[in-house]
Amino acid sequence: MKTFVNLNSDMVNIFQGSTKCRFLDQLRQIRELPISGEELASKIGVSRVTIWKTAKSLIAAGYPLSVDAAGYRIGKEASDDLLYPWEFENYEQFIHYWDTTTSTMDRARELAEKGAPAGSIVVAESQTTGRGRAGRTWESRRGGLFFTVILRNRIPIIRYAQEGMRATLSMADAISRTTSRKPELRWPNDLYINDKKISGVLTEIRGDGDGIKWTLVGIGVNVNNPGDRAKSISCGELAGKHISRRHVLNAFVETFNAYETLTGANLAQEWNSLAFGRGSHVAVLGAEHVAQKNPAECFTSGIFEGIDELGRAIIKTETGTELIDPGTGSLVWN
Ligand code: BTN
Repeated sequence: MKTFVNLNSDMVNIFQGSTKCRFLDQLRQIRELPISGEELASKIGVSRVTIWKTAKSLIAAGYPLSVDAAGYRIGKEASDDLLYPWEFENYEQFIHYWDTTTSTMDRARELAEKGAPAGSIVVAESQTTGRGRAGRTWESRRGGLFFTVILRNRIPIIRYAQEGMRATLSMADAISRTTSRKPELRWPNDLYINDKKISGVLTEIRGDGDGIKWTLVGIGVNVNNPGDRAKSISCGELAGKHISRRHVLNAFVETFNAYETLTGANLAQEWNSLAFGRGSHVAVLGAEHVAQKNPAECFTSGIFEGIDELGRAIIKTETGTELIDPGTGSLVWN
């Protein structure tokens, strides 16, 4: 069963792309050369009035389009960083775009409850109340990538952490492909480079005795947004240039699809291969103490040995082995 937009699935291939998508495709193929309204209309299969209306709406959305006697053309300064649905050719119909919203988790939850298909993605340029784990806020300034994916895998609730693990691994791969720097994974779902946070993953589920009904996987990535330099780092800073958020999202989708069958012990093994701090001493903090990160408040401590297939941190203490559920704690290395 496909759990996410698969770019090769028949379902997606039937969709030809919206008029905006096909309009941009035609103009981009001929770069900055002009094309007449008549030719565009015939190539796309719509009226000239529709072409004109489409151009007006794209100009309003910020595209450098111009129209003169020779026809329509797109300027060379056209951004490759736009997140509008029509920029995602093969899965345009699955993208729900917001300029500003409270949290993409809120919008995704509404869509999931209304029956939106697996693979739907809510993306926003900024969030007014972006959420992190353990009740923290997620600073969501423009230039960052903020999105939530809706999944509908009917897996047992005890395996709920699996989707977050798969998403964390996929985002690590996407960041590494776009910046040439490989992040480390910090339990449960954080991505770090140079000891600074670059991305975080938040999951929410709804389920019953038969298993999970839907899972929301929310991901925030510092791409070109300025952050707290002491604690966080962005893809742009690492690469020394502007990074396209669309490329990061596309790379994530591609890897997330490819990892669809990566489950159980194999998933844990892959995660552990990128895990930070295995074999080191850690303090385990309860959710209520995560913000202070004070090891004195820990409820247990020991050697972090990685995670098991349920996403639990394996901690070797003086008296035995403890397994910490991802929803209940955070690790502080000391
Ligand atoms: C964490 O590191 O604590 C998780 C951060 C998750 C942030 C993302 S941004 C998109 C989605 N919407 C939210 O409000 N949160 C997640």
